[in-house]
Amino acid sequence: MSDNLFFKECQLRSIGKNVIIGKTVRIRYPDLVEIGDNVIIDDFTYISTALTIADNVHIAAGCKLIGGRSASIRIGEFSTLAPNVVLAAGSDDYIAGIASPLVPMQYKGQVEIGTIQLGRHCIIGASSTVLPNVVLHDGAAAGAQSLIKADIDEWTLHAGIPARHLRNRNRDEILRLEEMWRDQQK
Ligand SMILES: CC(C)(COP(=O)(O)OP(=O)(O)OC[C@H]1O[C@@H](n2cnc3c(N)ncnc32)[C@H](O)[C@@H]1OP(=O)(O)O)[C@@H](O)C(=O)NCCC(=O)NCCS
Repeated sequence: MSDNLFFKECQLRSIGKNVIIGKTVRIRYPDLVEIGDNVIIDDFTYISTALTIADNVHIAAGCKLIGGRSASIRIGEFSTLAPNVVLAAGSDDYIAGIASPLVPMQYKGQVEIGTIQLGRHCIIGASSTVLPNVVLHDGAAAGAQSLIKADIDEWTLHAGIPARHLRNRNRDEILRLEEMWRDQQK
């Protein structure tokens, strides 16, 4: 791996084998980040929260995984973020708070500091946004430019603003492909 501009690999909490992290990926708190095997994080991605990434995950270019040190995000095996996805595990109070990081907490209203969880085989389309405390269950998918405010059931495809159910995904076929791929790795 070529040297990253913003952090040293040894600062990460853990990192697996065969991991590619673009030189311009910025990880604000590398001590809170765990990365499995066979992971790619493409350039211009910005990560400012605790993050656990399982094996075989792809985070495409320009994603933002944000929320601060007290929030957290988990991404399950075989899950993918398309370019420019935003996972906001934390969010300001848009009704009754001052939304500035420069004012003390008592002026900021009900700031949400939460979690986002993606199960296995999730995929989020380009330029979509996931809000705090949302769970994408195994096999959940979201179309491009979606706003995901609520949990997505397993093996379903949602899209839109806010995201709504479009159709079901082919769970059996995806799991069959996974098994075939695993057999080939042996
Ligand atoms: C969600 C998606 C997979 C659906 O594709 P599809 O199965 O071919 O769906 P269709 O084009 O037949 O659309 C079905 C309906 O969903 C709507 N729809 C499709 N994608 C949508 C989206 N991203 N947001 C809102 N509505 C969407 C269509 O308008 C259509 O609505 P209608 O039945 O009222 O006319 C695709 O549109 C998409 O967004 N893919 C993401 C691709 C991407 O981000 N790639 C980046 C690299 S991985």
